[in-house]
Amino acid sequence: MASAGDPPTGQRDAADQNFDYMFKLLLIGNSSVGKTSFLFRYADDSFTPAFVSTVGIDFKVKTVYRHDKRIKLQIWDTAGQERYRTITTAYYRGAMGFLLMYDVTNQESFAAVQDWATQIKTYSWDNAQVILVGNKCDLEDERVVPTEEGQRLADDLGFKFFEASAKENINVKQVFERLVDVICEKMNESLEPSSSPGSNGKGPALGDTPLPHTSSCPC
Ligand code: GTP
Ligand code: MG
Repeated sequence: MASAGDPPTGQRDAADQNFDYMFKLLLIGNSSVGKTSFLFRYADDSFTPAFVSTVGIDFKVKTVYRHDKRIKLQIWDTAGQERYRTITTAYYRGAMGFLLMYDVTNQESFAAVQDWATQIKTYSWDNAQVILVGNKCDLEDERVVPTEEGQRLADDLGFKFFEASAKENINVKQVFERLVDVICEKMNESLEPSSSPGSNGKGPALGDTPLPHTSSCPC
């Protein structure tokens, strides 16, 4: 049980070495779509209306439970600004899942999704799982990207799709849970002997053995 002297949950999670798997996840998308807000909502259940653009990259850790396994999520929050692209793409390698985010009130951020998808294809594992997230769905009056267009693009790209709101806490937990589930499904597929032709051998260490801590580390 937590006592007054204990570090905050995030720090405890980060230091906690007791887990069965570690999944490295990345948040990507144009600047101001709400990546940092989304992560803060998920990890800390907080939201601030002020915009403090991310410099480079940051991360948070959260532990979830799936099928009696402790899964430590190492969630990297990348800067959307173009000038940090060289730094941020260096972190794609080894990521098992991506949340590719746009803002439903910002057409430019939606138009950029294709480019972000290309970046994933270029810099990450072939079997990394991707969820397309249309954030800020609370701003219905300012919406310029219809839900159907988001869904259609996700279908074209072969991604799962959610609309969400970091501000109103809509679908935030669900998005992360879905990403964890599809990664788990992919791991189980890879464990089936018949599925090996689909694997390119570059993927994460799979199976009942816990992933080595270094396997997901970008350092
Ligand atoms: P970069 O770090 O520059 O890449 O931006 P970001 O994608 O991390 O955006 P950030 O989370 O900093 O949010 C940008 C602005 O949008 C902030 O003012 C947030 O308060 C606001 N915002 C984020 N999510 C939502 C949301 O779901 N609804 C509304 N209405 N505003 C949001
Ligand atoms: Mg940010």
